[in-house]
Amino acid sequence: MKIHKHEAIIVGAGGAGLMAALYASKGGADVAVVSKLYPTRSHTGAAQGGIGAALGNLDEDQPIYHTYDTIKGGDYLTDQAAAKVLAENAIEAVIELEHMGLPFDRTDEKRISQRRFGGHTRNFGEELVRRACHAADRTGHMILQTLYQQCIKNEVNFFDEFQVVDMIVVDGAVAGVVAIEMGTGEYHVFHGKAVLFASGGWGRCWSVTSNAHSMTGDGAAIALRRGIPMQDMEFFQFHPTGIYRMGILITEGVRGEGGVLINSQGERFMEKYAPSVKDLASRDVVSRAIYLETRAGRSIKDRGYVHLDIRPKTVNRFFAEEGRKDDFIDDGYVERKLPDILDFCRTYLGVDPVHEPMPVQPTAHYAMGGIPTNVDAEVIIDAAGTVMPGLYAAGETACVSVHGANRLGTNSLVDLIVFGRRGGMQVADFVKQADWKPLPADPTEEIRAEFERIRNGTGKTRAGELRAKMQESMMDNVGVFRTEETMQQGIDELAELRERFHNDIAIDDKGKIFNTDLLEAWELGCLLDLADVTARSAISRKESRGAHSREDFKKRDDENWMVHTLAYHDGNLQTPTYTMNFERKVDLSLWEEEKANGVPEDKQKFRPKERVY
Ligand code: FUM
Repeated sequence: MKIHKHEAIIVGAGGAGLMAALYASKGGADVAVVSKLYPTRSHTGAAQGGIGAALGNLDEDQPIYHTYDTIKGGDYLTDQAAAKVLAENAIEAVIELEHMGLPFDRTDEKRISQRRFGGHTRNFGEELVRRACHAADRTGHMILQTLYQQCIKNEVNFFDEFQVVDMIVVDGAVAGVVAIEMGTGEYHVFHGKAVLFASGGWGRCWSVTSNAHSMTGDGAAIALRRGIPMQDMEFFQFHPTGIYRMGILITEGVRGEGGVLINSQGERFMEKYAPSVKDLASRDVVSRAIYLETRAGRSIKDRGYVHLDIRPKTVNRFFAEEGRKDDFIDDGYVERKLPDILDFCRTYLGVDPVHEPMPVQPTAHYAMGGIPTNVDAEVIIDAAGTVMPGLYAAGETACVSVHGANRLGTNSLVDLIVFGRRGGMQVADFVKQADWKPLPADPTEEIRAEFERIRNGTGKTRAGELRAKMQESMMDNVGVFRTEETMQQGIDELAELRERFHNDIAIDDKGKIFNTDLLEAWELGCLLDLADVTARSAISRKESRGAHSREDFKKRDDENWMVHTLAYHDGNLQTPTYTMNFERKVDLSLWEEEKANGVPEDKQKFRPKERVY
């Protein structure tokens, strides 16, 4: 066992981790980033279409409109003060990225170019606005490259291909993490004054997902097992346009550039579901529409997918109908603005989107829930907002909650830049005044025992088999539409899978060097825990809201459910019991302010109301 000592330990090297590391180091902290991936391979790279900021470079825009869209998109479960922080900080954050050298596309006037995205509107829903700042369809990639360079310049210490597997808690405060060096199989202890989890999401719980193989929610599962509640786990976003059966993301930027969804009858069906914004309604609405078209027998070849059409001849026909002749596009424009998705479709499908429509279906994309934090990325452990000393989280693994029940496209990148930065600053301040906590005699003891159990398992079950079963079960039972019956089925199936995971698992590779067989089996345990919490949180919430769409409780119920779900795990790895808490109220401070200022009800912008697009 090797011990490393750094004041701030950042787990994960995606956008949130890098931004936090950069700002913690700028604040004078000695920072280590511990990541199972090489930083520029992190999943932030999968966010293609843009980062939202009300720069107003092409259309009139203001942070308050961005705040409104974030709250409405989140189906009013969004904490309103947090949404305001997000939208206001977004502008400075994007300009800072530009100054760091991020190669944004440019307008004719050489300003940062912006495109339309789902649910982005001007003047409180009046009309669509171009707000997504983009670098072609590689925005997330460019963020990673830019921030990694800045971290290197700032002498952040990187431990790449070190997989964090446990968190060290001493007297109710965090004292570091345990990691396995993938190249050697050795255990390393990272002793820190502060730990910030920026370890991403867990889309791999589902079979059709835009998430990379690495997105197994390790950080969230570790925190959960160490007593941190998971907030709002029932809300998991399905992005409407994943490549059919593969799930690979086709950016919403396609629809932002004019692309349309078409069913087997050749209809632009979103006109029915969202007459004003059509294909640019929020993601939950569009994903449900695709499922409803499928149920009505109008998917292509009756196979559960629809077409996404960005062919200039199609797009220009609709632009002409809408009186938007100035927006006409041609083949070269599509090639310039969407090079990566053209490449994906040409490579994986043999389909050329300039000349053919793309087959798409909803794909599990983003966790709105996660480790609860306040707006300074401090982790909170109860409904009263009590902070766990030294523990922070940012990015997809965290739940601030700015995304509420359904995240607005591009707000993932805003979230990780804004709250990664705030978290980094907070960590720098914290480590200046915090003392080092003594480490336990062997901090690796418990997790080593779990790994040895998996390594020495003599059963008949392989992790891959269980993973595939879990993913199918989650897709069928805890997907876009849910009922009590399907969710209970999901919970029962997960219990059976967990039982086999604990009593019948075996791996083939017993070695130490790059033992992905062992690490993937352990990751499956993380996914099983997070799938379980998702299903249990979902079955507990007796309403439909945002991405949580119940066929047995079709209506949103603001009277009883304007609360966040907190799910606790009892730490028992084999047969955990969960406790649910619904005492954490949604922050409605912007609406409260309107009421206090005497704004009449019909003029209140932040009053929860039915979402109409
Ligand atoms: O569609 C996209 O480009 C994805 C972006 C996001 O999830 O925010």
